[in-house]
Order: sequence, then structure tokens, then C-alpha cells
Amino acid sequence: MQHKIAPSLLAANFTNLAKDIDLINNSEADWLHIDVMDGVFVPNISFGPPVIKAVHSIVERPLDVHLMIVQPERYIEMFAELGAYLLNVHYEASTHLHRTVQQIRQHGMKAGVTLNPHTPVSVLEEIINDVDLVLLMSVNPGFGGQKFIEHTYDKIKRLKELILRKGSNALIEVDGGVDNHNAAALVQAGADVLVAGTYVFGSPDPVEAIRKIKHL
Ligand code: DX5
Ligand code: ZN
Repeated sequence: MQHKIAPSLLAANFTNLAKDIDLINNSEADWLHIDVMDGVFVPNISFGPPVIKAVHSIVERPLDVHLMIVQPERYIEMFAELGAYLLNVHYEASTHLHRTVQQIRQHGMKAGVTLNPHTPVSVLEEIINDVDLVLLMSVNPGFGGQKFIEHTYDKIKRLKELILRKGSNALIEVDGGVDNHNAAALVQAGADVLVAGTYVFGSPDPVEAIRKIKHL
């Protein structure tokens, strides 16, 4: 399976979202990555339901929602209604992760679990067969435009080993500091989905930037 590209809305131009969504619709992007931050789990606040609803009405791609919020289980129904295709919750924010993952699937969405850079892959041992995707943070969550953490390559390899050993179908997604310099090595290490914010929307030609990391 060829890897997927998920441009991150966080780096789009909020004064003209329609233009950037149009770029996505005319590109080889597979998903649109949506970062929801609550100012508690992470130090930053991004955007919420009204913006996501408006974006969903014009984007022709599945929404890959990344919840950087405490108690994500409180909002599962809301994000199902907003049209999320995949709902990512942080391992560090979910006390009853197994229940949360089940509820996400019961609401018709794919379930993703996200790990902060310091959280070892081994915590997924007992849940890896119940998730559709694992999102590895390759920066500390909260902000776009940060430097990629090189240790991520080893972590992808360890996660791939766990997935194969357990016979899980989970995809591996990587988020933070992804660009045309590290995309090939990330896919080589085992990444199935690449999130890219600054690299895509900070480029003079986002459609071409997406094409570059899609065809490595
Ligand atoms: C960071 C977010 C990322 C962010 C990536 O907390 O989860 O999705 O938008 O942005 P770049 O690609 O600029 O690192
Ligand atoms: Zn994200």
C-alpha cells in the first residue's frame, strides 16, 4: 500500500481557508489532518466545532482528527456528528483507553491512539489489536513548525515490530516536522501516513509540495 499524506489545517491561512481547502481538493492529499487543542492538555488552543463543520462542508477528503484535549471521551459523539473519519486520542489523556477506543468505533469512526515523544511504544501492547491507527508524535504536541525529533525513526521500527508480532492491522502515522527531507526515511522505517503542516502550507506551491512527499 502506498503511504498517505495528511496536510495539517493548523498551518493553513485562516483568513482564507476556502482557498487552502481548494488546494487540498486539487492535490494528491489523502486525508485532512485537524488539530484540536484545549489549552490544558497542550499549552495552545487551536479551533473547534464551528470551524471544523465549515471545513468539512467544502473539503473532499476524510477528516483525520487529532484531539489534544483532556478527557477526549466526552467529545466522541460531537466529532462523529462533525463528520470525522478517524478520531485520534492521546494515550496520555485517556484513563480508560480501551473503552474510549470502543466508543469511537461504535460511533462509526476509525480509532487512533496517539503517543507523545516520551511515551514508549510498549504501552500499546494490550491495545494494538483494537485500534485502526497509531499516531506517533515526532514533536511535542501543541504547535506547528517545530523541529523533527530524530529518535522517531527507531520508534516507528519498534511499533512496526509490535504490529507484526501481534498481527494487528493498525496503520502508523507520523506528525510533526515532516518535510521533503525526512519523508522517504519515515516511509522506509514503516510510516503509512505522513502529516505535514508547515512544509505544505509554508511552501509557495502546496500542491507540488504534497506531490513531492507522495511520490518519493
Ligand atoms: C502539533 C500538531 C501537528 C502540526 C504539525 O501539535 O499535532 O499536526 O500541525 O505541524 P508541522 O508539520 O508544521 O510540524
Ligand atoms: Zn496533529
